[in-house]
Amino acid sequence: MTERKSPTAVLREGPRVLSEEQVREIEECDLKGVLAVDIDDVIEYVHKDLKSLPDFTTLYRRYLKQRWDVYELDFGQDKFDWTQKMTEEERQSFIAIASGFHHGERQVEIELPVFMIGASEEEKLHIAAQIEDEARHTVFFDRFYREVVGLEGDDIMDILDASFPWVSETFVGPFGLLAYQADEVRRNPYDERARVRYGTNYFLWIEGVLALSVMKVTLSYARWRGFLPAYYTGFTATCRDESRHVQGGMRYLQDAVRKDPTMINEIHDTLRTILSLSGVISRRIYYEPLGWTDDEVRMLFNQQLRRKLNDVGIDLPPDLEDRIERVQPTLAGG
Ligand SMILES: [Fe+2]
Ligand SMILES: [Fe+2]
Repeated sequence: MTERKSPTAVLREGPRVLSEEQVREIEECDLKGVLAVDIDDVIEYVHKDLKSLPDFTTLYRRYLKQRWDVYELDFGQDKFDWTQKMTEEERQSFIAIASGFHHGERQVEIELPVFMIGASEEEKLHIAAQIEDEARHTVFFDRFYREVVGLEGDDIMDILDASFPWVSETFVGPFGLLAYQADEVRRNPYDERARVRYGTNYFLWIEGVLALSVMKVTLSYARWRGFLPAYYTGFTATCRDESRHVQGGMRYLQDAVRKDPTMINEIHDTLRTILSLSGVISRRIYYEPLGWTDDEVRMLFNQQLRRKLNDVGIDLPPDLEDRIERVQPTLAGG
């Protein structure tokens, strides 16, 4: 177990400064090396390039270097920690948060191909890589639920069905909205407005805010307690993958607004829709057993959203500012 600062203290510290050596370690370490990396540094790394966003070819090249083998992970110690060391309350909280991710990864894997149709050739390379990342993340959760949590089933869908009772989003939430938006893009793949609405929900909200918040809560718990090393390794490597997805998504939104400044209205309207749906849940998530209060999770949400918007240069009108302050966090991701 490492010494633990409260989440409030860490959140109040503000942005971390990464040395060149830390950045190199995060960018280049192999799967075994990921276990030694601090999740807060990887989350900082997600933001590193947001002010001068990399182009899609650079992101694709990074993907080729950072790709990891999900079948290399050994969940033996995780199984022991899960059954012998964690309390029932900790397990229930953990699984309530992880289930949104389990389903989220699978959904983004199947909703992303439609977005590729209207993309530039360079962006297509990046999206092809991202689809493969999301597929790998789906396998990661499938293995975790089978080998650690102990759910049983013959195929991926069986395991998804078995974890569904823990999912807290009803069909009125960001993932329900994404299914609708993906359908809009499927019907009109070159409709730039539909693409911006889809991109705002997928890349900015689901990946940039929800996913990074789940990662921070569950991974800082695992690191603090010294539990679940394969989960920590695979999910921290997933966070590194998400840094490319968020940067690519922010690049897409930034380019779209530069080409046509009225696109900002699509971003604002999509955020309004998402925020008005927040808090409609089928199942309450308890964060306390993992060391977080509801207020701390809300603070984390705010920070994650504001940082992305500020770095990419997207301003908010007063009504959205107001809504963000009142947002009720429901964690899931992709
Ligand atoms: Fe992703
Ligand atoms: Fe993912």
